[in-house]
This record gives sequence, C-alpha cells and structure tokens, in this order.
Amino acid sequence: MTTSLSLLTPSGRLTLGNLLGALRPMAARLDDPGSRAYYGLSDLHAMTTPHDPALLRARTTEMATLLLAAGLERATLFRQSRVPAHAELAYLLECTTHTGELARMIQFKEKGRGVGSTRVSLYTYPVLMAADILLYRPAVVPVGDDQRQHVELTRDLALRFNTTYGEVFTVPEVATPAAGARVMDLADPTRKMSKSADAAGSVFLLDGPDVVRRKVARAVTDSDTGPDAVRADRAAKPGVTNLLEVLEACGGSASGIATYGALKAAVTDAVVAQLEPLQRRYAELAADPAYVTEVYDRGAETCRHVTEPVLAAARAAMGL
Ligand code: TYM
Repeated sequence: MTTSLSLLTPSGRLTLGNLLGALRPMAARLDDPGSRAYYGLSDLHAMTTPHDPALLRARTTEMATLLLAAGLERATLFRQSRVPAHAELAYLLECTTHTGELARMIQFKEKGRGVGSTRVSLYTYPVLMAADILLYRPAVVPVGDDQRQHVELTRDLALRFNTTYGEVFTVPEVATPAAGARVMDLADPTRKMSKSADAAGSVFLLDGPDVVRRKVARAVTDSDTGPDAVRADRAAKPGVTNLLEVLEACGGSASGIATYGALKAAVTDAVVAQLEPLQRRYAELAADPAYVTEVYDRGAETCRHVTEPVLAAARAAMGL
C-alpha cells in the first residue's frame, strides 16, 4: 500500500503548470491498485499574503471542482482548514524548526522581496506544509519542482522529531514528473508559470481554445531561424525549450517540426486536447455544487479520523 499526499493552494486560478506538474501525476498514482491518496486544497496557505475573503471562497469552490474534473475523484479530497490537526501539528513542529531554516526558503525570499511588511504566516508556511504532509504518513509527495525544497525541509523536520522525541513520522519521498515539473511563463520563460501572474504568460485550465491559441502564438521564443532552431537548450533557448517540454508532457511529439510557427501550432493542439475533456467535466460538476461540497465534507471527515492518532502520538512524544 503506497500512500500519497499533495495539496494545491487556492490563491489564484489553476494553470497548465499545476496540471502538468501536479494534477496529472497525482491522478496517475490513483491507477495503481494498491494506492491510497489524500489530496486537498491548502486554503490556509492562501492567506499568507493580503487576501480578499470573498475571492478566496470563490477560488476555493472553483479549485475544488477542478480537482474533481481532473480525475482525482478516487482520492480522499479535503480542505485543509476543515481538518484542525493541520494547524495544531504546525505549532508543534514550529517548536522543532530553526529560524534560519525558514529564512533560507526560496519562496519566502521571492514573495517577501520588496514587500514592506510581510505576514508571519508567509515565513512559517513551510512548517504548516510539513504538518500537512506528516499527519498522513505518506510514502510519496507528488509535486512540481518548486515545492521540492519544502518537501526536503519536511524530511529534515520528520527525522529531527523522530530522533529527538521518538518515532512518530514517516519520512516521505518527493516525486516530480519527468516532463512538466517546471512549466515556465509563456511571456517570460525565465520565471515559472504561476496562478497569480498576469494572464498573458499563464494558460489557465478554464481558458477556451481561442485564448490558448492566442497565448501560445504570442509565447516568447528567440530570433534563431537556423535549420536546428527547434531544439531544447534551457540556458540559451528558454522559451523554445519550454514549448518543447509542454508538448512532450501533453503527449505530443516535435519530430519533423522545423519552425516556431509549426511548433506553436502543435503545442496549441496538444494543450487544447488536454483541456477540453477537463473543461467539459468541469461544466457538469459546476452545475451540481452540492455534490462537490459533499465530496469534500466527506473527505474532511475521513481526514479528521486519519490524523487524530498521529497528532496524539506527536503530542504525547513531546510531553503534552
Ligand atoms: P501551489 O498551489 O503553488 O502549486 C500546486 C502544485 O502545482 C505545482 N506547480 C507547478 N508545476 C509545474 N510547473 C509550474 N509552473 C508549477 N506551478 C505550480 C506545485 O509544485 C504544486 O505541486 N505549498 C504548496 C501547496 C501545499 C502542499 C502541501 C503540496 C500545501 N501543503 C503538502 C504538497 C504537500 C503550493 O502552494 O503549491
């Protein structure tokens, strides 16, 4: 029995990066008959930067529906804020984490840069993420490349806890997909595609075919017109490399493609083919919000049961 766990933060609209880096590999794990999966929405993580409550609610609903539409129905689906053990274990783990470890986190440095006042939760966020993971004792955490450092910190915290207070946690492995682990922004291929970025460089999962076509057509490439212009080279040709990787991750092939125009047409077709069935299923599910709510409520109930003994073991080990 292999248990996997992963969450997504409803801080914006899900992108092609989230699909290729996380949702598709997460869904693939459900095909293994011996697998068990806890997948959820890290809504507490969506409050680490200034947020609007009504918008958070709307994005949570949209994302909950999209996870179902992406084929995660067979997992236990839940909202982090509905499982109180997450916040409580996060505090216990804060008592084992050093400030220097959190100050080193790349995402903290990036999101906190240039911001006059930073929320404390942005700094402590990786500890809450460690709690999300360790409560379920998963063997594997399927994520995109940008979350690798956070899962590595989780491993360090689990090992430290087990050594200091007794064996409570499983030390998880991180799993990133071979292609699509770091989908880059189409308008600026030196930064990753993100939910909160401006719309031009991010393909959102609910973008229609015409919007996808326009965004891919405008994707930044380079001025190389040589016979081997269409080739992967992350350092010298980041835009072209990104398009090739998206094509591969969507099951397409670049063989025989010699121009950027042809490459972009192939990428558009491959991406639209991925998004169409997902959008059809989304429309059906969005018409039945009570069903979506019920799935997540049932999942949270299961999670409260699963996490209770692990939290109790951690409390007891620490002397509480
Ligand atoms: P989040 O919401 O930023 O991203 C959700 C998942 O999508 C992956 N991802 C990408 N993959 C490829 N290319 C991209 N451009 C791209 N952008 C995002 C992320 O790596 C992630 O797998 N802190 C996490 C959520 C979280 C979590 C957890 C994950 C909270 N608790 C416990 C795993 C385990 C986050 O904000 O991901």
